[in-house]
Amino acid sequence: MKDIISIRDFSRGEIDSLLARAGAIATAPQIQKTLDGKQVALLFFEPSTRTRMSFTSAVSRLGGTNITVDSVEGSSLSKGETLADTMRVVSSYVDIIVLRHPKEGAARLASEFASVPVITAGDGAGQHPSQTLLDLYTIRQSMPLEGIHIGLLGDLRYGRTTHSLAYALSNYDVTLHTIAPKSLEFPDSLVTELHKRGCRVVEHEDISEIVPELDVIYTTRIQRERFPDAASYYNVAESYRITPEALEGHKKGMIVLHPLPRAGEIDPRVDAMPCARYFEQSGNGIPVRMAMLEEVI
Ligand code: NCD
Repeated sequence: MKDIISIRDFSRGEIDSLLARAGAIATAPQIQKTLDGKQVALLFFEPSTRTRMSFTSAVSRLGGTNITVDSVEGSSLSKGETLADTMRVVSSYVDIIVLRHPKEGAARLASEFASVPVITAGDGAGQHPSQTLLDLYTIRQSMPLEGIHIGLLGDLRYGRTTHSLAYALSNYDVTLHTIAPKSLEFPDSLVTELHKRGCRVVEHEDISEIVPELDVIYTTRIQRERFPDAASYYNVAESYRITPEALEGHKKGMIVLHPLPRAGEIDPRVDAMPCARYFEQSGNGIPVRMAMLEEVI
């Protein structure tokens, strides 16, 4: 694979082998320095803690070095330079570009102008494949993907992590249960695509209807920065929350995931419950992103 732009670029076999490689990296007594002598540009034109830091750490662990730009203001994009020109220039400095950009489609465009591999680290409301791969990796640590019932709770309209994850899961025999405020349901085009791929998608109004059936609950933050205006955000703000009470009657072995950052969707009392796996999930970003970097180099 030259670039990693969308989870749609992966076949099921490619997902499985990348996750297997991440597992091998995580347990290897010694890490192969696959990026020895290589430089990676981390261009983050949107805020990030986990994705940026874990890519940075993954590059260093593989023996490479990082060059980071962490805002539009800190780059020539603020002077009016096009993304295409930035990509052409940065390609002559580094061996891999990792890009987070607020506009959906930017990563694909960037890959057309870059002469080195591009990995997207979040593409507007569109795609977030590295998050998806670590989400799948985390689920697999607890259960096989085949046959699971997963509840996707929260901002399914603007949440790129849920878009990527739903598509990836449609490679397996899973049932997706969507639980979202009316204005934050999945885009119709995604639901149509999931149905075409034979994936069962069941809509629910309230998480309590479905808790006892779920193997995984995947909660997300309301993506406030992607709302067209403040009023539409305040209409849905704080409209759902996972609490120990809301989880009563859950299946044995059920796990709660969240890509983080959370902004009130998970009561901190849940953190102490055995089902809370979101901090392990973010830790899995390291071996998974190492495997992705190896894949493109
Ligand atoms: C997510 C993102 O950036 O899409 N964060 C992450 O990468 N772990 C989720 C979010 O910002 O809510």
